Amino acid sequence: MRARRMIRPLAALMLAGVGLWLAPVRAAEEIELPRIKWSFSGPFDRFDRNAARRGFEVYTQACQFCHGLRFLSFNSLAALGFDESELSAIAAAREVLDGPNDDGDMFKRPARVSDRMPPPFANEKAARAANNGALPPDLSLMIKARNGGPDYVFGILTGYDKAPQGFAVAPGLNYNRVFPGHQIAMPRPLSAGAVTFTDGTPASVEQAAHDVVTFLAWASEPTLEERKRVGTRVLLFLLTFAALVFAIQQRLWARLH
Ligand code: HEC
Repeated sequence: MRARRMIRPLAALMLAGVGLWLAPVRAAEEIELPRIKWSFSGPFDRFDRNAARRGFEVYTQACQFCHGLRFLSFNSLAALGFDESELSAIAAAREVLDGPNDDGDMFKRPARVSDRMPPPFANEKAARAANNGALPPDLSLMIKARNGGPDYVFGILTGYDKAPQGFAVAPGLNYNRVFPGHQIAMPRPLSAGAVTFTDGTPASVEQAAHDVVTFLAWASEPTLEERKRVGTRVLLFLLTFAALVFAIQQRLWARLH
């Protein structure tokens, strides 16, 4: 009798649970991300070095005025094939804050290869003041930080468009197909031909977006290739070991019978 009285509230509770579980899925608008075949996404893949190098050119020509890469030092770019003289030139083009000197003052000097990339703004307030109150995030870990990773960032960079009819874009914001809510404070950073590649590749928006995302993916995990290599070796070892154990076991039991 008592058990039967419990059934109804229990069923109601379960239904409510299922409802809660489904609710956020239905509430969030599904935004379809572009699906790009990245050079680095498979288990044995490596970063396309040429794309990543071009991506660094995109970063310096179109992103570094607003976005920092604070975890990256100039000399780590050597992994992308920049030689020493190129690295010195890249570093010397930027200024870093150093000090204090003997008078207790901070001072600016050209960056050295061993420095990390300097931030574009002195502090968060300065960054917001220059960007209509919005904060351009540091891009060092951006590819890892967002759902959809490289596809998402590619989608943002190529997702600027005219707002559909009836969609009011607030002043200072821009319509973007992929950004959640479709209004982004970042002005369209890439347009056709806005960057020049030293290897002569034509710089369409898609090309520039593809390359800068490859570069940012490398920046967010420079050791990815080594991780994959070690992973493959460990798997091979485990497989060989399993085969060996199996063979030994077969032999031992064969003798016992
Ligand atoms: C004029 C300044 C400016 C430039 C240049 C710029 N950005 Fe931004 N960016 C911003 C601001 C401001 C935001 C914050 C947007 C917001 O929160 O609405 C932002 C946000 C972003 C985001 C994060 C989006 C998210 O999900 O939060 C990414 C990724 C990004 N920018 C990439 C780039 C790349 C790559 C370039 C160069 C090709 C670039 N930006 C150039 C100002 C800039």
